[in-house]
Formats: sequence, structure tokens, C-alpha cells
Amino acid sequence: MFKPSEPSRSRPRIAVAGATGRVGSALIAGLVSEPLELVALSRKPDAQRVPSGVSLAAVDFDVPSTLHDALRGADRLFLAHGTSPRQVANEIALIDAAVAAGVGQIVKLSTMGPPSRLHPMDWHMQIEAHLATTDIGYTVLRPSAFVDILARAGAQIAHDSWGGAAGDGAVNLIDTRDVADAARVALLDDAHPTAQRAYHLTGPRAVSMPEIAEEISKLLGRTVTYQQRSPKEQREKLLASGLNEFVADLLLGLDRLFCESALAETTSTIETLTGHAPRSVADWLSENISKFRK
Ligand SMILES: NC(=O)c1ccc[n+]([C@@H]2O[C@H](COP(=O)([O-])OP(=O)(O)OC[C@H]3O[C@@H](n4cnc5c(N)ncnc54)[C@H](OP(=O)(O)O)[C@@H]3O)[C@@H](O)[C@H]2O)c1
Repeated sequence: MFKPSEPSRSRPRIAVAGATGRVGSALIAGLVSEPLELVALSRKPDAQRVPSGVSLAAVDFDVPSTLHDALRGADRLFLAHGTSPRQVANEIALIDAAVAAGVGQIVKLSTMGPPSRLHPMDWHMQIEAHLATTDIGYTVLRPSAFVDILARAGAQIAHDSWGGAAGDGAVNLIDTRDVADAARVALLDDAHPTAQRAYHLTGPRAVSMPEIAEEISKLLGRTVTYQQRSPKEQREKLLASGLNEFVADLLLGLDRLFCESALAETTSTIETLTGHAPRSVADWLSENISKFRK
């Protein structure tokens, strides 16, 4: 489907927004040895946050000229943004700045999931709708939930208090390295510069929270259980743990999607795009099991 990049006369310039985030940093690591100019956009440009060879551009979303300066001369843009009430306005501002700067292709990190009022589904729907008003090429990546959200459970598992409102619903968690690999392929695709497309990205199969508890139990050599709670009980627990209402409701929204198996779809897209099978939840747990020890 995709044609890998060939050494070209001029080095394409790729701007990476969200370069210091989970997907963005894995993407930068995968692009840094390519014959490209890489520019990392950041609100806190600190050379230690990106590998050597990557330029840094300071952005302040309240100062549009910083977005225009950061994108000047860029051919392609990877667009990721942390989950925040500013996400819609900031991503739309970056899309507009990219179009004005002559960027030809955008690879946007979105999310899989049903049309919904839940954040961040509703935000990504608004940003995608804005992207659809442009004439440039774009690839929208819609991954399922990231497997590293399980890291949040580390301290709770260590204290035998892990649980939630996900019930026995299934979710096909994806490794952020696979999302980055798909983004890398899309950014290096020289064959379809004006194509407008979207992909659903998933891991190899859907699993439930009780199945994840079994896998962690095997790795730790002790029984770990996922305590089943109602959404109301879980909200109270989250607020009592010190989270604010915004974050508590985001996490409850995820539990609802998991409970309803709304992110249980399995696609072959990671393998088709990248040539390798998606990493499994079991692999991620095995690599990260130290996070779950007492
Ligand atoms: N978590 C999941 O399960 C999941 C699943 C599917 C899709 N997604 C989507 O993935 C995206 C997040 O990607 P990620 O996990 O790689 O990001 P992340 O690790 O949370 O990093 C956030 C990045 O966004 C940049 N950013 C700029 N303005 C920001 C602001 N106002 N608030 C927060 N961050 C800001 C940060 O850069 P500087 O600090 O350097 O400026 C940072 O590089 C979201 O759009 C989310 O909806 C997440």
C-alpha cells in the first residue's frame, strides 16, 4: 500500500507536534536516522527532550506567529496533542498554520471510538471535521486505547486496590510504539502525497480487565483481581484518590467504552502498514511488570 521513502535530492522537512509525548517521542526515534530534517514543536523546548539532530521550535498557542514560524518550510506535519480542553483550538490552529505555510501532508493522531459526547472522542470529531475542509493530503490515525494506560494500575495493583467500571467488556489495547510505526510509514509515503485517508489501528486481539488481571497474576506469581465497581463507586474512588473531576470523568468515559466493548474491533492495519504484527498486551505487561510489583 505504501512505498517506503527513497533517498531524495532534497531532504524533506517534517514538523512533529507532540514530539515529547508518548507517540511523538517513539516516532522521532523511528525517524531520526532517515534522510530528513526533523523539527520538534514544543511549548517547553529543551534540547534534552529530543535526540540530537532534531531541531526544536518553540510554540505558544496563544501567539499564532510562533506556529507559523515553527512550520515555515515544512513539507509534512505529524499532529499530536495531549488530552486537554485546549486540544480542539490548538490542533485547529496548527492545521490552519500548516496550510498557510504550504505543508502538503498532515498525519493526525486521532482516536478510534463511536461518535460520542465523551472526551476526547468529541474533540477528535471536531478536529477531523476541520481537517476535512482542507485540500491538502492527510492521514488520520485512529488508534484504540493505548496499552500504557495500564501503568496507572501499577500502584493500585501493588496495594491490591485495582478496579474500575469496565466490567467484563473487551478492549483491543494498542502499543504506542505500533502507533508511532504506522505514523512513520504514513509520513514517509512519497507515493500518495495528496491522498486523504483514515485508518483504525488496534492490537492483535481484544482482552477484558479480568483477563489482564490473570496475565499479571501469572507474571507476578500471585493472584491479582480487578475489583468490579459501578460507575458511581469508581467516580468516588477516583476523586478520593486526588484526581480532579475532568480527569476522573475522562477515565470513567474510558471504562464505559471498555464495558460496552466499543473498542474491541480487531484490524489488520498495523501489519499491513508496517509489515510487522502489532505488539500484544502480554508482551507489554511482561516488559513492564516491575511497575506492578509491591
Ligand atoms: N491514551 C490513549 O489511550 C489514547 C488512545 C487513542 C488516541 N489517543 C490520543 O493521543 C493523543 C495524545 O498522544 P500522546 O499520548 O502521545 O501524548 P502525550 O504523551 O500526552 O503528550 C502530549 C504532547 O502534546 C503536547 N502538547 C501541546 N500542548 C499541550 C497541552 N495544552 N496539553 C497537553 N499536551 C500538550 C506536549 O508537548 P510539549 O509539552 O512539549 O509542549 C506533548 O508532546 C490525544 O489526542 C489522545 O486523544 C490517546
